[in-house]
Amino acid sequence: MNFCSDNTTGVAPAILAALAAANEGRAMPYGEDAATRRFEAKMRELFETDLAAFAVMTGSAANALALACLAPPYGAIYCHAGAHINEDECGGPEFQSGGAKLVGLTGEHGKLDPRTLSEAFKHAGKGDVHRVQPAVVSITQASEAGTVYARQEIAAIAAVAHEAGCALHMDGARFANALVHLGCSPAEATWKAGVDALSFGATKNGALAAEAVILFDRTRAAEFAFRRKRSGHLLSKMRFVSAQLEAYVTDGLWLALARHANRCAAELADGLAAIPGVELRHKVEANEVFVTLPEPALVGLESAGFRFYRWHQGPAGTVRLVAGFDTRPEHVREFVDTARRFCREASRTT
Ligand SMILES: Cc1ncc(COP(=O)(O)O)c(C=O)c1O
Repeated sequence: MNFCSDNTTGVAPAILAALAAANEGRAMPYGEDAATRRFEAKMRELFETDLAAFAVMTGSAANALALACLAPPYGAIYCHAGAHINEDECGGPEFQSGGAKLVGLTGEHGKLDPRTLSEAFKHAGKGDVHRVQPAVVSITQASEAGTVYARQEIAAIAAVAHEAGCALHMDGARFANALVHLGCSPAEATWKAGVDALSFGATKNGALAAEAVILFDRTRAAEFAFRRKRSGHLLSKMRFVSAQLEAYVTDGLWLALARHANRCAAELADGLAAIPGVELRHKVEANEVFVTLPEPALVGLESAGFRFYRWHQGPAGTVRLVAGFDTRPEHVREFVDTARRFCREASRTT
């Protein structure tokens, strides 16, 4: 009963089957295979535009390589201070870009605010040779707080970014979870709202190891190809990564998997929020729940075999619970029932 993260999940059966099918016979290496062509075509169809799509193995690589394509070594990449690119990628974007600087901004509930961004640009020192130059704005969808940017919010950020001459990058490690919440098309949630490049996640939502960089501006595609090779993400047996991505978006699998995860998270949140002494930290709009419980209840849950991460942001007793495509509804109910029991006991002894 592991609620630590959606990367504690296994592989969705349809994706595993696609891997087995891709194992038949020989295929040309380095992405010169039929599965890769089909994956690229699927992405163009899905996003309804003539984009460039590149498969990579990790979300960190997708982010670092996409950002490196958009920012010069003397560039500034604006993001939320708590963004994965800022806190959890070991300087990957800085390394791959040859030194671009990440500028972390504050924002409620894990989201960048266009006014804060606009204010930051006023003080960015554009044209001043002593300062890094605004190059990219990066937002995370769904955010690190489990919230989702509405289309209008993306468009407002894109307008400020583009006005300042910046490209807009979206870290979509949980893009499917966000899209299910928004209920719009992939195109409407990205390039139609002003997104220039997307890190398209699949691993957290059922793939084995597969992410994609989507460049809506194809002029960067040639450069990206070289950067991917240099970074060691042009796999010789690329057909296995492409096959995962192809299966992921075929027949709406990715959305069905994300819908299940979101539903489990919502149930978890509703159940927990109804318990006296329990407080949700953010709206639950995707598959993550940030919640504060009394310490004895957390200890009780852990001793009952539930696993979750204690969270560094928020008051003592804050934890993150993540639902995945394979989360069992009975485990959600068990979690809530156990939490309720320990919270009741905790309130009696205090
Ligand atoms: C928002 C976000 N972006 C990117 C990543 C990076 O993915 P990976 O672990 O595959 O490098 C993660 C992983 O936790 C993430 O949560």
